Amino acid sequence: MVSRVIPVAPFDLVIFGGTGDLARRKILPGLFRRFCAGQMPPDARVVGAARSDMSAEDYRRMVRDAIGEFNSDTSYKAADLDAFLARLEYVTIDAKGEAGWSELQKLMAGEGRVEAYYFSVSPSLFGDLAERLHKWGMADAQARIVVEKPFGRDLATACALNATLAEHFDEHQIYRIDHYLGKETVQNLMAVRFGNMLFEPLWNAQYVDHIQITVAETVGVGGRGEYYDKSGAMRDMVQNHLMQLLCLIAMEPPARFDPDAVRDEKLKVIRALDPVLPHHISRGQYQAEACNEAEMPGYRTAVGDAKTRTESFVALKTHISNWRWAGTPFYLRTGKRMAARSSEITVVFKETPHSIFSEEAGRHRNVLSIRLQPNEGITLGVTIKEPGPGGMRLIDVPLDMSFAEALGDDTDHVDAYERLIMDVIRGNQTLFMRGDEVEAAWAWTDPIIQGWEARNDVPKPYDSGSDGPTDSAELMRRDGREWRKVSP
Ligand code: BG6
Repeated sequence: MVSRVIPVAPFDLVIFGGTGDLARRKILPGLFRRFCAGQMPPDARVVGAARSDMSAEDYRRMVRDAIGEFNSDTSYKAADLDAFLARLEYVTIDAKGEAGWSELQKLMAGEGRVEAYYFSVSPSLFGDLAERLHKWGMADAQARIVVEKPFGRDLATACALNATLAEHFDEHQIYRIDHYLGKETVQNLMAVRFGNMLFEPLWNAQYVDHIQITVAETVGVGGRGEYYDKSGAMRDMVQNHLMQLLCLIAMEPPARFDPDAVRDEKLKVIRALDPVLPHHISRGQYQAEACNEAEMPGYRTAVGDAKTRTESFVALKTHISNWRWAGTPFYLRTGKRMAARSSEITVVFKETPHSIFSEEAGRHRNVLSIRLQPNEGITLGVTIKEPGPGGMRLIDVPLDMSFAEALGDDTDHVDAYERLIMDVIRGNQTLFMRGDEVEAAWAWTDPIIQGWEARNDVPKPYDSGSDGPTDSAELMRRDGREWRKVSP
């Protein structure tokens, strides 16, 4: 199935941090794929802006190498790459000083084009960049800024950041990225829920026993130890990515698929979340791979701190206190170095209120599982009669739909970043977090982290390649439930 590509309006995109890791791995290869797909107009321009002193030619060479290294699809034509590189400019810029700003201003002088500024730099520079864009006359009503996570490290810093950006830009000009919202299957959550009559009537506490959200990774912290050890899984994954998944699965149907209608509903979910009790949380740190310590170090070795108490795994139970969900627990779990890379949302329905069959037939529940990555798809466990002459015995069989099989090969080639950047140019904020949403998510997260700090909580060790520490399984067992196995 070939998707329709509608070119966006002519634009100038400035990438602050244009030589950095994110730009080389994701942003520039993503833009190149959109260029090849015909979505980036031929006269669009991309301006790398960074501290390094280099010419536009040097920059094009660097981007050529980055695309060679990080573009998963190598079937592009050399002429397309040359044409894309010709759209690139470079400015050496000092985010905290004045150098380079007048050159950038001259480059951005084109009339009637979309102007977007991507802050792919440390959040400590967001304020400086916003201020200088304003001072040099580039923060006009047409301008958009794109900001990366982490958006604050607690409620206070997030509020301060929002206030700083608000001095120079209106909320409708600020695009806060959570790349999970750019994933095809994450958007599919909304299509599945609100495009089908089948699910919505059952989507509430009367029919749903509980919901599990798992984002399991096999990678460790790798070379990001310094950043990660200051964050931990709660700040790095739960406050943003898992929170967004929770919102999409639990929110009320918005009246329209437009940015504020969707974000209003998400915000209501976050504000209705109960505080998490200490005994409803499991917190872990991965251990070295038993047979292979040199290559697979444990968390503490990886971050170079033998005493660190930062968690690489969190599982928790929470409730949403509203009419739809009162009494239905939501279990969230994420961790590094787990048994498999697997992101999945599982909706476990209640048993039928009464069984017409004998006890031996057994009682079963429908389980709807939405696989976000990898092997994207949906499975619905349906109860049927076990075939054969053995009387009426019930078994579960999966109605299994793999998106790749159902839709063909074309489905997963649009990376989250390229989709989100095109949305910035189109001026569509639906898949970006609004300031109040981010603040509400921190308001829920802060007491959990503060509780750990006050208690000097030490995360429980877990084996690399496992499903996390044993008290994560215990969290479920106490409620008479169990986690879905983490499997690829
Ligand atoms: C990032 C986190 O936001 O998301 C990383 O900082 C994590 O720690 C990554 O590995 C996971 O993203 P994905 O797209 O690989 O699931």
